[in-house]
Amino acid sequence: MERRTRLEDTNEEIIIRHIKKSDVDGIWNNFNEVVEEGIYLPIFIPVLTDHEKRSWYDHVKKEHETCVVAEYPGLKKPHDIIGQCEISNSEWDAASHVGILGIIVRKEFRNKGVGRALIDFAIREAKRINNKKKIILSCFSSNKRALHLYKKMGFKKVGVRKKQFYLNTSYHDEVLMELWIDDYVK
Ligand SMILES: CC(C)(COP(=O)(O)OP(=O)(O)OC[C@H]1O[C@@H](n2cnc3c(N)ncnc32)[C@H](O)[C@@H]1OP(=O)(O)O)[C@@H](O)C(=O)NCCC(=O)NCCS
Repeated sequence: MERRTRLEDTNEEIIIRHIKKSDVDGIWNNFNEVVEEGIYLPIFIPVLTDHEKRSWYDHVKKEHETCVVAEYPGLKKPHDIIGQCEISNSEWDAASHVGILGIIVRKEFRNKGVGRALIDFAIREAKRINNKKKIILSCFSSNKRALHLYKKMGFKKVGVRKKQFYLNTSYHDEVLMELWIDDYVK
């Protein structure tokens, strides 16, 4: 199952699809670049070892989690993976209907509709394949682009954890959002 869509500015075709083992390096390069940007994730240390990268992939497959990527065929591996969206399982037995969303789009491909396409596909696949009913996420209150996108897609703000993170010499609030999938996929 995959979907073809186009970058909003150049109209070039990209493919939104489920992860393959050969995408792992591209995915972690994207993740590490966002860690280096230092303003979007509450994480300081990049993931560098092959062991960590492969273990994550094995975990996604073993737990049947939804992980989708945006592939830009105009670039060679690992640079062809321009974004990724993961919907992982809740740790709680009684919350197996809940998926936890995380998303990254590579800097030069942001604001071109890739994030929206990734989230839309991931939510539908999490419902179709994993029987998820509800998606939750959290985001820095300073991340206006992400908050705009989540709200536009129907996520509702359900709370704020004040001063939850300390980075770049200041505190950051964490916004909690959620979406009931059947309100989104009619
Ligand atoms: C957040 C992120 C995933 C969104 O993906 P994207 O491909 O850039 O998003 P899209 O292009 O689909 O949509 C972006 C929307 O935000 C809007 N936007 C851009 N900058 C904005 C800003 N400063 N304030 C408000 N809205 C903004 C765009 O206009 C667009 O909305 P529109 O379709 O109504 O015009 C991506 O920017 C990213 O990876 N950021 C860094 C990592 C990150 O923040 N991850 C999420 C952590 S919670």
